[in-house]
Amino acid sequence: MRVIVADHPLITHKLTVLRDERTPQPVFRALAEELVALLAYEATRAVRVEPVTIRTPVTRAEGVALSRPLPLVVPILRAGLGMLQGMLNLLPTAEVGFLGMARDERTLRPTTYAERLPDDLSGRQCFVLDPMLATGGSLGAAISFLFDRGADDVTAICLLGAPEGVAAIERMTEGRTVTLVLGSLDERLDERGFIVPGLGDAGDRLYGTVD
Ligand code: PRP
Repeated sequence: MRVIVADHPLITHKLTVLRDERTPQPVFRALAEELVALLAYEATRAVRVEPVTIRTPVTRAEGVALSRPLPLVVPILRAGLGMLQGMLNLLPTAEVGFLGMARDERTLRPTTYAERLPDDLSGRQCFVLDPMLATGGSLGAAISFLFDRGADDVTAICLLGAPEGVAAIERMTEGRTVTLVLGSLDERLDERGFIVPGLGDAGDRLYGTVD
C-alpha cells in the first residue's frame, strides 16, 4: 500500500481551522470541500488516461482524455458526503457509488446500512472518501466491497488518519493496489476510538448529532 501524507502549508492551515472546536458548521463544510480538492490533486496523479488528437484553432494537437470505464467515486456516508462535491469539482465526469456505514460506539465495529454500487467494477479505478480513518474498520470494509466487485485499483482520501487505522488497512489489503492519501497522520486513537488530536466526530460537525 502506498501512503501519501500531504505536506503543504495551505492544507495544514485549513486542517488547523477544521480541527478548532470553535469553527462553525458552515465553515467546517466549506473547508472539508476545499481540502478534498487539494488532496484529490495528489490522489488522481495516476488516474488512467488515453491519448486523443484534437484540433486547436491553429493545428492538430495530441492530448489525453480519461479512460473508460470512468473512475468511480465512493463517499462513505455520512461524513464522506461532505467530501463529494470537492472531489467532483476535480473529476466532473466521474460516476458516484454510495456506501452507508455506521460505527458502533461501543464495539467500534462498522455496520453497512446502505450500498448502491455498480455490480461490476472490473477495470475501474475507485476513489473512496471518508474524512476519518480511525480503527480502519469502515474504510477496510468499504475497500473490500470494491475489490469483491472487481475493482483493481483503489485510492482512499481521508482528511485525518491514525497510525492504528493505517496499519489495519495495510493488513486488510495486502497484495492489492491501494493508495491512501491523508491530509494529516495524527498521533493515535484514544480509549473511545477517536483520533487524537483529531477534530471530533466529522459526521456530527458536518451534519449535526443524530442520537
Ligand atoms: C466515522 C467516520 C468514519 C469512521 C471511522 O463515521 O466518518 O466513517 O467513523 O472510524 P473507523 O476507522 O474506526 O471505522 P461514523 O460511524 O461516526 O458515521 P457518520 O459518518 O454517519 O458520522
